[in-house]
Amino acid sequence: MISTEIERELAQATQLQRQGQGARAAEIYRKVLKLSPKIAPAHYNLALLLKDQGKPAAADKAFKSALKCSPEYVMAWTAYARFLSDRGRHRDAVRASIRAAHLQELSGPAVQELADRLKAAGRSDLGSIGEDALLLCLGRRDVSGDGTILAVLTRLLAHPALKKLLSPGIGKDTSEKLLEEPRAAAAFFAALTEPMVAAAFTSLILPLREVEQLLIFARRVAQKSQMKIPIEALAVLALQIDLAEYALPTGESSNGAPSDELRAAVFSALMAPLDPKAAASLLEKHKEALVTKRYTRELLLRQGPEKLRERLLKDKLIVLSASADDVSHKVQAQYEESPYPRWRGLRSGGEVTLPALVKSLFPGLVIPKLKNAPKVLIAGCGTGRHALRTIRRIIGADVTAIDLSRTSLAYACRQAEDLGIKLRFAQADITALPDDLGRFDLIECCGVLHHMADPEAAWKGLIRHLAPHGLMKIALYSENARQDVVAVHQLVGDKLSTLDLDDVRHLRQQLLALSEDHPAAPVTRELDFYSLSGCRDFLFHQQEQRFDLSRIGGALKNMNLEFFGFEFADPRPLAAYRQRFPQDISAQNLANWAEIEIGSPTLFRGMYQFWCRPLS
Ligand SMILES: C[S@@+](CC[C@H](N)C(=O)[O-])C[C@H]1O[C@@H](n2cnc3c(N)ncnc32)[C@H](O)[C@@H]1O
Repeated sequence: MISTEIERELAQATQLQRQGQGARAAEIYRKVLKLSPKIAPAHYNLALLLKDQGKPAAADKAFKSALKCSPEYVMAWTAYARFLSDRGRHRDAVRASIRAAHLQELSGPAVQELADRLKAAGRSDLGSIGEDALLLCLGRRDVSGDGTILAVLTRLLAHPALKKLLSPGIGKDTSEKLLEEPRAAAAFFAALTEPMVAAAFTSLILPLREVEQLLIFARRVAQKSQMKIPIEALAVLALQIDLAEYALPTGESSNGAPSDELRAAVFSALMAPLDPKAAASLLEKHKEALVTKRYTRELLLRQGPEKLRERLLKDKLIVLSASADDVSHKVQAQYEESPYPRWRGLRSGGEVTLPALVKSLFPGLVIPKLKNAPKVLIAGCGTGRHALRTIRRIIGADVTAIDLSRTSLAYACRQAEDLGIKLRFAQADITALPDDLGRFDLIECCGVLHHMADPEAAWKGLIRHLAPHGLMKIALYSENARQDVVAVHQLVGDKLSTLDLDDVRHLRQQLLALSEDHPAAPVTRELDFYSLSGCRDFLFHQQEQRFDLSRIGGALKNMNLEFFGFEFADPRPLAAYRQRFPQDISAQNLANWAEIEIGSPTLFRGMYQFWCRPLS
């Protein structure tokens, strides 16, 4: 029981802490703890202060005391996990984060937090706790697991039945020979249905050339083998091939399909997607048998009913404007055939108001007149992840999302339905927006303008749809960061504009065969390289322009826009800027950024992502 006096002291200390008067606040916490050593919030707040004061050992002790006094203290477990993670103590961080997640009944935000800890852990050895954590994170619709890929690959590379087959740099011949050995093959197919391995193969694209090689051989062995490979192992394999959208080279089909209908379907799905109606009817017909075959069921579900629903949603889409010029036609055709990205889990957590979000991104600036429940336009929403994330991220956001591609929009609508998120989708060309589209407090146009004939003109057109004091978030390709892609374009030459999907498959194999020191080789280490739509978007786009900071500076000036700064997923670039230019607290100077970019040309690999608004 906390006395009123102590409560008052704690309130005063918390206020001082918020005002940045850490030393005085710490004094009060210590005084309170001397009188009542079991007050968990006092230990917890003291831990935060000590952490900020650069006293990790004392902070660690204070976190532990808080958790000893109150073992169900969620906030303290979460903060402790982050603290440990920042200090490279990844195994302990993941353990603490699992604890926090369970205390929150494995809610989306709590499991997302755990996925973030796994991301920070990268390739660290997490022991068996890593597997427990991955099993909680993978395959959830309300959690983005993409950040856990390194942790996943690390576990797979250590797996007894996989490690030889996936050993880095293993040649094609060796890998194929290994898998032809019946015992190794049996162990491999048995491993596929182990919970962690199956979760990895069925929920994430595994972006490793050795995995791709293995998929090709495993598919061949499965086709030729007399061995009775369990249908569920085949389904796991097919789900990974499906996630990569059949980017593998087209292989030979099996001679003589199995007589069992379900087995025949799974075999067929190793080579090409099933006909959606056929998949849906198998799902219905074998409902009972499929109760015990979760991966086969999942495969039929993804290739059947999900696709059929998208077709229906596509027919119902509102059209605001159709493709307005040649470039828009070509770009639309690409995304109709290859909607991108084919995401599955949506990031949870981190909800804030627009003013709070902007403040957290640009703490050094005062940006007045921001709406609390903003009207938002996502211009070029693709398959919807961006729009759905914005609606989740910004409290009260009323979102309209437009794109050229009806197939992409249909994917987005289906995902929104599945996640129970409400927003408006419509087909429209950004270069020909109707006047009555309305005015928006925030327009986000990310990864889109550089696919147009005249990006600056389209950007200017969007400004007409800003409400007074409205903000823009723009993301554009960096010339410096995409030099490996430029090298790919040089290899492909004039054929770039006429590539079909088989050409993309073929070119992928050529790129995988390049020597490590070839300027185009780095592209094979990117996630997007490992799916067909990703690879098209990343490497073989119908229309691509790249920017540098002087072109962006010129556009901002011409359009009379005030630049607020870059948004990074990772805090390190900003820290590097502050260290180099300590006098420029707001980090808004593009010339300074250009200098930093010279030193690290891939700094903006994730695009120049920045916020701006018209000068009033
Ligand atoms: C790389 S995707 C990016 C999607 C989304 N912003 C994201 O970050 O996931 C580019 C999208 O821009 C769309 N796009 C390109 N030009 C467009 C235009 N003129 N009008 C509307 N959408 C366009 C494409 O159809 C495609 O879906």
